[in-house]
Amino acid sequence: MKQYLKYVRPYLFSFIVGPCLMIVEVIGEVLMPYFMSLIINRGVANHDVPYITLMGGAMIVTALLMMAGGIGGAYFGAKGAISFAADVRRDVFLKIQKFSFANIDKFSTGSLVTRLTNDITQMQNLVNMALRMMLRAPGMLIGAVIMAVMMNAQLAMVLLVVIPLLVIAIISIVRIAFPRFDTMQKKLDRVNSGIQEALTNVRVIKSFVRGEHEEKKFADANDDLKESSINAMKIMILLMPISTLIMNMTVLAVVWFGGNQVIAGTMPVGDLTAFVSYVTQILMSLMMLSMVILQSSRAMASAKRVQEVLNEEVDLTDDNAGQKQLEVKRGKIEFKNVSFRYYKDNHEKVLDGISFVINPGEIVGIIGSTGCGKTSLVQMIPRLYDADEGEVLVDDVNVKEYSLYNLRNGVGMVLQKNVLFLGTIEENLAWGDEHASEETIAAAARAAQAEDFINSFTDGYDTELGQGGVNVSGGQKQRLCIARALLKKPRILILDDSTSAVDTATESRIRESFSTTLKDTTKVIIAQRITSVMEADKILVMDEGRIVGEGKHDELLKSCEAYQEIYYSQMDKEVEK
Ligand code: CTP
Ligand code: MG
Repeated sequence: MKQYLKYVRPYLFSFIVGPCLMIVEVIGEVLMPYFMSLIINRGVANHDVPYITLMGGAMIVTALLMMAGGIGGAYFGAKGAISFAADVRRDVFLKIQKFSFANIDKFSTGSLVTRLTNDITQMQNLVNMALRMMLRAPGMLIGAVIMAVMMNAQLAMVLLVVIPLLVIAIISIVRIAFPRFDTMQKKLDRVNSGIQEALTNVRVIKSFVRGEHEEKKFADANDDLKESSINAMKIMILLMPISTLIMNMTVLAVVWFGGNQVIAGTMPVGDLTAFVSYVTQILMSLMMLSMVILQSSRAMASAKRVQEVLNEEVDLTDDNAGQKQLEVKRGKIEFKNVSFRYYKDNHEKVLDGISFVINPGEIVGIIGSTGCGKTSLVQMIPRLYDADEGEVLVDDVNVKEYSLYNLRNGVGMVLQKNVLFLGTIEENLAWGDEHASEETIAAAARAAQAEDFINSFTDGYDTELGQGGVNVSGGQKQRLCIARALLKKPRILILDDSTSAVDTATESRIRESFSTTLKDTTKVIIAQRITSVMEADKILVMDEGRIVGEGKHDELLKSCEAYQEIYYSQMDKEVEK
């Protein structure tokens, strides 16, 4: 938990002044019953009106000071807590931005959302509560005990019995509550993951008429959360009535023993009323403390979960890069005996002993059955994942030597599962290059064969895209994604099945425009259709994580069995059509 101290430091003022102002309130609270006892013992008993007025005035001044202290304390407490939480949230968000794909695979998105929102809110609540109670509760406890003992040490003995009883009750409640809060947070994760998945995939759910199934799945998770929350709350609920019961019994005991002393004449009436107030204060402060402890057991569970994100080791950084200044200039790619697996404890290699060279400016096609590792292979080039064995070189330098910024800037990649963002088409394209002029953007759109359909929209480049690009067709979306990548003017352009939803005629126009506008750029094109890569300078044929063929179309057609298989199956289909 030491780790969170650095989030306190910038707001030290609030963290110190808030509790101090609360002390003002406490002093007032402890003084009030004393003034009261004076009024009863001296003023009322002796019919001394001026004395009553004087003491009444003192009480009003004290009350006003208490109010000021209370308001100030609450303000600084809230301010400190909110600022603290905002900074933690910022850092968690930044950390997630740094995550590699492998890191992201580890946490579910829903869980990350819960950690960023609910968990941090729990921490904020604890800090807020702590700032208000930290000095107030112990201050009140100590102050009231001192006053009670000074007033009547004999009667104060009652407390010796009650306080340990209350402490035992509180400790057992907290011990039961802690694991329940932990479970509750985990269930909340599941609900949030469910919400997240159902909302992003609402179209798929509807088209598969799986709405009912999703509703049931969600209802189950939601009920689960409800059960575990009630389970945790039950304990919280117990705390109040048990403490109140103990408090009432104590007051009764005090009145009983104190009353006898008053009758015997060994204790003034005013002292008895004040004493009852002090006993109440003592028990109240213990209850406040227990609330803080309960909230902290809840917040600790959350703080641990937030810490998991903050302390997650980003397994892919450029901290050890030796040539951070280096930029990708020529666009040569070389794989030397590269092997890779997604799950390190799993024996199955997704890529196995891959070696090849792609020269600057070449067009290279990659083809192979689904799941054979094409996407995995190209993800090694901009270091979306790191190879387990072997080396990936760009311009004859290991990719690990580049800064991630320069490497990824030099390698434009249109991902297989690509998305557009909320905003206009122009804003989306300018993602590739913030400072691109209108002409440059139009040129990129033209090269990606996107210009015609963009201009056919009434708003043209200012057309608003929905989240993920829902209001354009699949093929239009793919072309916008290509245009966006082109604006980066990369030295290496990787298209991962990026024209699968584009008709063959448009696709061949895209290829043509590439050969003129992107002459020097190395192009790696993954495709399902052989026609998409037939004219490439070189085709890599993959099967089960290995390269089983390499060469031009004609050569492969003669020599590579896997290639022949794909070719003839696709040709047969053409003939059937
Ligand atoms: N895989 C995985 N974890 C991931 C991504 C993929 O375990 N995060 C596995 C897949 O199950 C598959 C293998 O890795 O068996 C290769 O996946 P991929 O490279 O994505 O295959 P592609 O050849 O790109 O398949 P497709 O043509 O369907 O895109
Ligand atoms: Mg793929």
